[in-house]
Amino acid sequence: MKKTPKRILVTAALPYANGPIHLGHLAGAYLPADIYVRYQRLQHRDVLFICGSDEHGVAITIAAEKQGVTPQSIVDKFHAMNAETFAAFGVAFDNYSRTSLPIHHETSKEFFLDLYEKKILKEKEEQQLYCEVNRMFLADRYVEGTCPVCKYESARGDQCENCGTWLNATELINPKCKLCGTTPVVRTTKHFYLPLGDFQKQLEKYVHSHVEWKDNVLKYCEGWFKEGLQDRAVTRDLSWGVPVPLKEFSDKVIYVWFDAVLGYISSTKEWAQRIGSPDKWKEYWQDESTRYIAFIGKDNVVFHCIVFPAMLIAKGGYIVPDNVPANEFLNLEGGKFSKSRNNAIYVKDVLKTFEPDFLRYTLAMNLPETHDTDFYWKDFQAKVNGELADIFGNFVNRTLAFAVKNFGGKVPVRGALTPRDEEILALMGKTPEVVGNLYEKFKFRDGTFEVMSLARAANKYFNDSEPWKTLKSNPEQCATTLHICVQIVRTLAILFAPVLPFSTERIWKMLRIGTPLSEEHWNDAGAAKLAAGHQFGAAEILFKKIEDTAIETELGKLGEPSETAAGNTAESAKEKLPPIKPTISFDEFQKIDLRIGKIIACEPVPKSKKLLKLQVELGAERRQIVAGIAEHRSPEELIGKSIVVVANLATAKLMGIESQGMLLAANGGGDSFALLTVSNDIEPGSWVK
Ligand code: MF3
Ligand code: ZN
Repeated sequence: MKKTPKRILVTAALPYANGPIHLGHLAGAYLPADIYVRYQRLQHRDVLFICGSDEHGVAITIAAEKQGVTPQSIVDKFHAMNAETFAAFGVAFDNYSRTSLPIHHETSKEFFLDLYEKKILKEKEEQQLYCEVNRMFLADRYVEGTCPVCKYESARGDQCENCGTWLNATELINPKCKLCGTTPVVRTTKHFYLPLGDFQKQLEKYVHSHVEWKDNVLKYCEGWFKEGLQDRAVTRDLSWGVPVPLKEFSDKVIYVWFDAVLGYISSTKEWAQRIGSPDKWKEYWQDESTRYIAFIGKDNVVFHCIVFPAMLIAKGGYIVPDNVPANEFLNLEGGKFSKSRNNAIYVKDVLKTFEPDFLRYTLAMNLPETHDTDFYWKDFQAKVNGELADIFGNFVNRTLAFAVKNFGGKVPVRGALTPRDEEILALMGKTPEVVGNLYEKFKFRDGTFEVMSLARAANKYFNDSEPWKTLKSNPEQCATTLHICVQIVRTLAILFAPVLPFSTERIWKMLRIGTPLSEEHWNDAGAAKLAAGHQFGAAEILFKKIEDTAIETELGKLGEPSETAAGNTAESAKEKLPPIKPTISFDEFQKIDLRIGKIIACEPVPKSKKLLKLQVELGAERRQIVAGIAEHRSPEELIGKSIVVVANLATAKLMGIESQGMLLAANGGGDSFALLTVSNDIEPGSWVK
């Protein structure tokens, strides 16, 4: 660690814009990063906090396919939603960018070309998995199979979620195409490879010079070094991403992880332009006196400790992360977070009911810093009611209320000190340093605990001092007690500010300190700075306790799908759905003949915004179907898909074109749309019953 960094660059992993931010995200990277940044700002250090949406890669295209929309509409929607969620949760990014911006594409291409021109990237023909049904190479998440290392059965083509191993898709045992479920074949294709092995010596030296890194991070790196670093493909046969900036490869894109990590740099550039100093990003990335901290979750370690540093070293002139505080996972009510099983809690949903500080505090006290931890709603309630409300909130409230009632809302004059007074003043004096040292070591859970311990001790001090008695029996001592308590309210407001930014601002208003809380210095937080006679305002309740019913409601939502994660936006969409139609008999239902059809051709209907003309193979015969789905699907997307067709519907004419049947699609209200498709395993003409 550099002794006195001139400035600190803090990045938090760019979340994929393929879904809403959930509690696991916050506990993994964003909350610790935010606490760290807010703490450093109170130290009046030059700190820049950078993030943005990761908008490329198969995580996005699969989400788009699932929801039946374009990748662009997915990233637009979730980028906006997540930026809003972070703001509502109080994450104080200096810039929240997105990797679809031109500035990011330029930065990625520049890095790629530079490494290409230096002949660092190797062009190689290698075997890749190819799906003959979907006629595409199965990069990354398009393929799943058994992990060769831990035998987890749903390992993805690029990484095993279970053991964290970074994989080549061809290493998977029993691979299956994620789109159609068939077994892919192996085909050769040309790609560019980053030869990590060539950098192993330098990377080992780099990692080994950081004995202060977390054990889990060092252990991961050691494992990879021991295995020997391999060449890794940094291009893909996909159409969504940053195009490879070479003519003969323009149908390929740069691998999402190669571009995503560079998103930190392009986001910094965007920030520099926004503040009117377009070159200022260089201070943070190219100046040795900057200290760079990269906050991530444990599944991102290899990319931040091996791949990104290798890229930065290869490019030259850039600094590398000085620390990579990676957290373990936050589990939910004893199980793993899982979007598909609806076992997830989205931050946006929580903030509809609860204050952000409730969540910030409970997560801070439960951060998976050294091992996986669990989020339990009952624990959330217990911590909010029993700690935030009963200890911290109660202390602030009783202190200010007592002083308003008995001392006219002014800081009382301090008299002679008892040993009890000396003791609490000593604790108050040393807590900033104790907490600061923990935060410097990325121990946010312990740091938060220490601040709450001061609040707990202060509460006890209030009780033991019995000011309601000394008010009559020893007014000078009563004044001293309250003088000290008001000082501690100020101390706690500053020390809790990184964790509880919203509530501490409210305390600051109650204290009526003329200067903003952000101008205070962390190291002065423990001093008794409020002058006797200072007038403060009325005491307000800081934290309202959570009722049991509110927690029961949340528990009831577990396992239920959330609108937040769905493709459609409006909650009202559900209400727009028509009621179920009147009952029909089985015989009436039997009259409908449903068949599997395979779309073999498709074209738009001229002059129509909505209609597509499809040629559908139905076993023995072929049908022409006109369907009003042009706003949802392009002809290219449809060809080759197997769908469900109403085969005995009377022929109709749409815009003068004959339609011999109807295809089935689902509408969830509003704009949501999904075509009913089936795997191509089943023969066209098959009967649906
Ligand atoms: N999008 C990745 C994830 O959610 C993280 C990308 S981090 C970056 O796991 F460094 F590549 F930006
Ligand atoms: Zn594994």
